[in-house]
Amino acid sequence: MISQNLVDAFNDQIAFEIHSALIYKAMQAYFEAEDFPGMANWMNVQFQEEMSHAEKLFNFVCEAGGRAKMLAMEEPRNQYSSPLEAFETALAHEQIVTARISNLMELAQAEKSHAAQIELQWFITEQVEEEASAGLIIKKLKMIEGDGRGLLLIDQELGQRVFTPIATA
Ligand code: FEO
Repeated sequence: MISQNLVDAFNDQIAFEIHSALIYKAMQAYFEAEDFPGMANWMNVQFQEEMSHAEKLFNFVCEAGGRAKMLAMEEPRNQYSSPLEAFETALAHEQIVTARISNLMELAQAEKSHAAQIELQWFITEQVEEEASAGLIIKKLKMIEGDGRGLLLIDQELGQRVFTPIATA
């Protein structure tokens, strides 16, 4: 059983993960409209990942004896000025997620919930990867400085990404 404080904080994070999913789905829509199918694919995989993060947290709250709740979310941004701006927005968003997960971990420590800390450990590791992958794409986009051929190559590369469901023990 986890404390109500933690249940509330986890419910808030479930909503934020779903909000993250919508942000990436909206980025997919932007890339579909701009004819970058590979980048659209990358964002769709990101959407699926975020939904799986929400699901993982939801399952944890239920299994830990808490009452999971769905909270309202704001409309995601639907337009970007360039692929670079979209990926920079994605990275900035992931940095916010990282900070939120750190705050959750500190709350779990303060509440002495080892179960919550173990659950959050997975997310801390995941955030390192999330920031690194968005960061690397930004680096490549800056390297090509909007060059059309370079953009097509990056688009092809990002088209290879596939969704891998979270492994359950
Ligand atoms: Fe669920 Fe991208 O953090």
